[in-house]
Amino acid sequence: MWRRKSSGAQGRDGEVALRAETRAPDPQPAPPPAAPPPAKAGTPGVYDQHFGLTARPFALAPDPDALFWTPAHRRAYAMLEYGLMTQAPITLITGEVGSGKTTLLHHLLRSLDDGVRVGLVSNPNGSRAELLRWVLLSLGEPAGPDETYVDLFSRFQDLLIAEYAAGRRVALIFDEAQNLGRKALEELRMFTNINSGKDVLLQLILVGQPELREIVHRPDMRQFAQRVASSFHLGMMDRATVRGYIDHRLRIVGMKRRIFDEAAVTLVHQVTGGVPRLVNQLCDLAMVYAFSCGRKRVTEAHVRQVLDDGTFFAVDLQGIEGDP
Ligand SMILES: Nc1ncnc2c1ncn2[C@@H]1O[C@H](COP(=O)(O)OP(=O)(O)O)[C@@H](O)[C@H]1O
Ligand SMILES: [Mg+2]
Repeated sequence: MWRRKSSGAQGRDGEVALRAETRAPDPQPAPPPAAPPPAKAGTPGVYDQHFGLTARPFALAPDPDALFWTPAHRRAYAMLEYGLMTQAPITLITGEVGSGKTTLLHHLLRSLDDGVRVGLVSNPNGSRAELLRWVLLSLGEPAGPDETYVDLFSRFQDLLIAEYAAGRRVALIFDEAQNLGRKALEELRMFTNINSGKDVLLQLILVGQPELREIVHRPDMRQFAQRVASSFHLGMMDRATVRGYIDHRLRIVGMKRRIFDEAAVTLVHQVTGGVPRLVNQLCDLAMVYAFSCGRKRVTEAHVRQVLDDGTFFAVDLQGIEGDP
């Protein structure tokens, strides 16, 4: 009854534009802060009250409540949902480090209904048997170190069949899936061969850095690539989107009037390349600097001072600091 099956492949990229908003006139650019920022830069409570905010706007943990739906994040999420709904054996989502992949996954996890049993494996690695152990554990199943690969596999297969019989689907999500390596990916592909004849019993959602896409496109991964029925690459935010992103994160913690002026946003976009995590870090520091010189608006001068002081070392700033 259980036999093998294959499916089509496709892939797509996407980019973004966002509405411009009216804004209050910016005050005079503030002079660079005379004193270095407080030692506990960026910790909660350092500047939120000063700016009239209820919390720290640019926290680094993936927080689905703070999600700003850029067109790219919306499309990536649509592909995740599409993959799940259409029983795609493999869904592939790639994006740079800090682009919002894990945040999207967290949103997906809390949106799924009881019809899907989901296991999330973050940062997977290890041998074949270890991979299966991680998989079973992610589904809430025990997986002892003394169980052989065959034991584990047969339990996993039984689980898939039992869930199917109960009318549920099983989806395994791998975050940082570029670390899986070719062998493990092949192993996972074999898992998707377990089917009912017409229905897929297991769906895989692989989320990772751009290398993941390169691995899947290698000639020896052709069989794997053919199972990828839904895929998306999450690109960087353009300047207009960074403007919207910054304002969104500030608005949800109570911003009434724009805090970052246009030139500050332009420099933040230029330095960070539109990577949300880097935008968060730089904006957080720029706010500390504005706060330290008593300003309610963040200007380009504050952002530039952060860069000049070497406080922001998340990216290589060569060639950026001198640019207008
Ligand atoms: N669309 C978004 N809306 C709000 N915050 C985002 C968005 N994308 C990324 N972030 C923020 O950027 C940081 C990095 O996101 P994360 O999901 O961990 O990235 P990745 O998993 O791609 O490395 C987190 O602080 C997250 O909250
Ligand atoms: Mg992540």
